[in-house]
Amino acid sequence: MTTKDSEDLTSVGPGTVMGEFMRQYWLPALMSSELKPDGAPVRLMLLGEKLIAFRDTDGRVGVMDHRCPHRCASLFLGRNEENGLRCVYHGWKFDVEGNCIDMASVPAHQDFKSKVKAKAYKATERNGVVWVYMGKRAKAPPMPGIEVLQLPEEDVSVIAALRECNWLQGLEGDIDTSHFGFLHAGHIKPEQLAPDHPFRGAVFHRAPELKAIETPWGTSYGAYRPADGGGTYWRTANFLFPFYTQQPQGDFATNVHVRAWVPIDDHNMMFWNFVWKRPMPDRVVGKDGKPLTGVSLGFEYLPNTTDWLGRWRLTSNPRNDWNIDREGQANNISYTGISNIHMQDQAVTESMGPITDHEFEHLAPTDIMIVKTRRHILETARDFAEGKGAPPCLDDPETYLKARSGFFVADPKTEWQDAYAANLKDMVRPAMKHAAE
Ligand code: FES
Ligand SMILES: [Fe+2]
Repeated sequence: MTTKDSEDLTSVGPGTVMGEFMRQYWLPALMSSELKPDGAPVRLMLLGEKLIAFRDTDGRVGVMDHRCPHRCASLFLGRNEENGLRCVYHGWKFDVEGNCIDMASVPAHQDFKSKVKAKAYKATERNGVVWVYMGKRAKAPPMPGIEVLQLPEEDVSVIAALRECNWLQGLEGDIDTSHFGFLHAGHIKPEQLAPDHPFRGAVFHRAPELKAIETPWGTSYGAYRPADGGGTYWRTANFLFPFYTQQPQGDFATNVHVRAWVPIDDHNMMFWNFVWKRPMPDRVVGKDGKPLTGVSLGFEYLPNTTDWLGRWRLTSNPRNDWNIDREGQANNISYTGISNIHMQDQAVTESMGPITDHEFEHLAPTDIMIVKTRRHILETARDFAEGKGAPPCLDDPETYLKARSGFFVADPKTEWQDAYAANLKDMVRPAMKHAAE
């Protein structure tokens, strides 16, 4: 990558190639539970813009520039009262759409409130999450048609976690399949795992072969190896425009989930995980029924603060070296000395620094998915910037429904994409079932 490629991919502020491209799409921004009617406004940073979010008396969500359009005092200090946020400096009041509805400090005959608007963005709620549209269309585009996002709130588990690095390196950690057998499972021996254990492929074949292609929703890879009883074992995963991934750790038929890597600014991002709640095999147990070490799940949070970067911070972070345990590393309790799978990913991607120096890298054939994805994002975002192409899936959100990830076994003579299409026909579609009910 050239310096210019690197900058175009990682800069997300207004006027940048990637920033303008991402502004076309709805962005997951806050948990609905973070905003209470007439409660304190919340500092929210998205795509490098400092915003304020609040819920009014009637429950509507407002998201706007944190600066009051009068003299730029922060609306974070504002009084959230009677269906509007009132600036504490001179008492001007704004509704969730940014309309100035009271200009208390100006004499009635000089009032010009109909001419003043706070810079507000459209917001909507789905799956217990507040989504924000920062683009310029008068009518916002449809919400993404990704299947898990169409399920009722009670059927989806949602996680958010701050990651202190650029959005791209966070996302790339999720489509970098060759790390699994090291970072997460380097300490696990093949004989520890039952024949159907989902880690088995990565532990038996720590140097996977893979193919990667462009798809209507973004890019896909298929990592393959011979299956135990004959056939080919495929693990397939996706990048979906503009910042989503689907990972291969689950049975293809039921692996209904999506992960979003949403830029906060150039140096920080919020990870969002949306998973269809269903009974799942316990993957942290070995063949002998004893728990596997070094593969714990779950998220441990510091209390949220009101800081721009104060929401959904994890207890392990760069300031404490992600709580790395050197003894655990030396004794193969885990490969890393970090016991939690998510924290292992978090540690390596944060350890690269806020933005990876792409000129320092030496990419390998196993990085083909990363290479293809970078190229596809760059070309697509640049085409959009030059008025040459529409953002993929934006106005045809059902395209996302063709993307599914997970593992399956196929006849070795069948091509990956044919096997993918055949498996797609048989997969479980909870959202469609829900819509039909
Ligand atoms: S700065 Fe907000 S009302 Fe004056
Ligand atoms: Fe990982």
